[in-house]
Amino acid sequence: MTKDWNFDEVIDRSGTASMKWEAQVLTRVFGKGRENLLPLWVADMDFNCPSVIRQAMEKRLEHQIYGYSLIDPDYFEALISWYDRRHQWMIEKEWILTTPGVVPAINYMIQRFTQAGDKVLIQPPVYYPFAKAIRNNGRQIAENPLQIVDGQYRMDFEDLEEKAKDPRVNLAILCSPHNPVGRVWNKEELEAFGRICIDHDVLIISDEIHCDLIMPGFKHVCFPSISPEFAQNSITCLAASKTFNLAGLQQSGIIIPNKVIRKEMITQIENLGFTNGIGGTLFGAVASAAAYNHAENWLEDLILYLKENYTYLKTVLETELPGVKVHELEGTYLVWVDFRAFNLSEEERIRIIEEKAKVGLDHGDWFGDNGKGFERINIACPRSILQRAAESIISAFKE
Ligand SMILES: Cc1ncc(COP(=O)(O)O)c(C=O)c1O
Repeated sequence: MTKDWNFDEVIDRSGTASMKWEAQVLTRVFGKGRENLLPLWVADMDFNCPSVIRQAMEKRLEHQIYGYSLIDPDYFEALISWYDRRHQWMIEKEWILTTPGVVPAINYMIQRFTQAGDKVLIQPPVYYPFAKAIRNNGRQIAENPLQIVDGQYRMDFEDLEEKAKDPRVNLAILCSPHNPVGRVWNKEELEAFGRICIDHDVLIISDEIHCDLIMPGFKHVCFPSISPEFAQNSITCLAASKTFNLAGLQQSGIIIPNKVIRKEMITQIENLGFTNGIGGTLFGAVASAAAYNHAENWLEDLILYLKENYTYLKTVLETELPGVKVHELEGTYLVWVDFRAFNLSEEERIRIIEEKAKVGLDHGDWFGDNGKGFERINIACPRSILQRAAESIISAFKE
């Protein structure tokens, strides 16, 4: 692919019904307006996706018949090849199911693999749609909070063992890499997590949607690639949507090596009204296949740009606002910032960020009680936008 991208380019997203940028959508989601806030919140990128993706969609668009479609066979081949090349995980074609997104899939799995009143284990602070899916489906949350040890988030395995022993806990959601704390779990951590879950009959949903956004020096390990035993006790959620900025296309791959569990999930997808168990979309599959096949060098450049954005943000916030701690970014483009040294209430900190700085962030308590005092900053934007947001935050807190 010839290099035709420029991550510094500021692209006007107004008028595109972008969730991140359109205040009227925010008003509906949050019940109050967030007009005039510079948005560094929801996890999409303010960059054009690679042009090879647009070209693939244009080619299909030209045909002008968009009738009922199967998932393009190229999608399966491209996904299999990508995970083999980038993550050394050999996925078999029959393991792959498709859904219109990872969050829908998580809801379907909670409905299918747990009963009303059961508990589902999560590791807060964590991506808040997990807790929402558990509650909305009438299940309870079992929390295994992450701990900060020597400045780094770690899993608490003693607590995990206690929680997993509860007979009502039979499903756990692993966020790998972890949104919002930015950890890329290493093999030992994943092994310990997997072992405890298997010993206590807890099925694992491994949400690996951020697995391609790994900073230099770190390595993502696909949970099921660790051993056949782990593969048989897990469902892995994947998508090209975070990696290549395609979230509006609603396409994700749900990988289930276990035949019995897979059959259950196919039935669930069918019961929800997706013909032949096919979730996902015509253009989502076309775009994902093009991305996996042709956009690897775009991703390599993106990672370097994100790393520079991260270094800029960490340096400027920690220098200008002593006491603020920017956690290490091992993976994702979501930076977890600790404002606890300021001893402000949630309301007061949010007021400063929204009313004074006029920046839209994901506030820490959305991710769980142990997220209080933190903010999540989405750095997947041109550096000039990040600079504008950082300078506004700094001057608002300095006041
Ligand atoms: C951990 C995690 N899972 C899932 C999603 C969203 O997945 P989808 O858009 O496929 O529903 C996100 C988006 O931010 C995420 O961070």
